[in-house]
Amino acid sequence: MQLRSFKAADLPTLYEIDQSCFPPGVSYSQEELSAFVKHRTSETWVAEEAKEIVGFVVACRARNSQMHVITLDVREDWRRRGVGAALMDAAEGWARAGGLEVVSLETAEENLAAQAFYSKRGYAKLGEVKNYYADGSTAWVMGKPLR
Ligand SMILES: CC(C)(COP(=O)(O)OP(=O)(O)OC[C@H]1O[C@@H](n2cnc3c(N)ncnc32)[C@H](O)[C@@H]1OP(=O)(O)O)[C@@H](O)C(=O)NCCC(=O)NCCS
Repeated sequence: MQLRSFKAADLPTLYEIDQSCFPPGVSYSQEELSAFVKHRTSETWVAEEAKEIVGFVVACRARNSQMHVITLDVREDWRRRGVGAALMDAAEGWARAGGLEVVSLETAEENLAAQAFYSKRGYAKLGEVKNYYADGSTAWVMGKPLR
């Protein structure tokens, strides 16, 4: 498995993976995903195996020296093989190199796998946002210091 930077031609595949990773109302529309990936403050890494994209992460520089994780997606048949950890290592390394001090993200309160994944990486629950997702579900805000 190798990581590389995003290319515009990846977008349809990233959209397909995002649709398969999240339920309707939590997954992004094609327009939303495209806007996030192309935003000037964001950075996207793609994980590939034998030229197949198996996962990706989109992160951005936010205010107050923060990195915000927009989405982290690993194809179901590629989970528990270190792909998510490798993508987050890349994103957190980028943030540290850019002088960012804190990382934060939202994840659905029902998403126990993501909560376990981020807890293992040292993230703690910082709060909750009711009605965060289009389907009305609640998000957990999780984060950690980067230094
Ligand atoms: C959450 C997600 C990104 C994890 O990706 P992954 O490639 O499977 O994660 P890794 O293999 O790097 O896991 C690293 C560690 O996290 C923890 N972890 C990961 N998935 C877990 C799960 N389902 N249950 C419990 N712990 C889990 C484990 O400690 C794991 O180490 P181990 O496999 O040695 O026990 C993946 O499940 C996914 O894409 N889910 C759907 C989309 C999503 O929820 N994204 C995150 C919300 S923004």
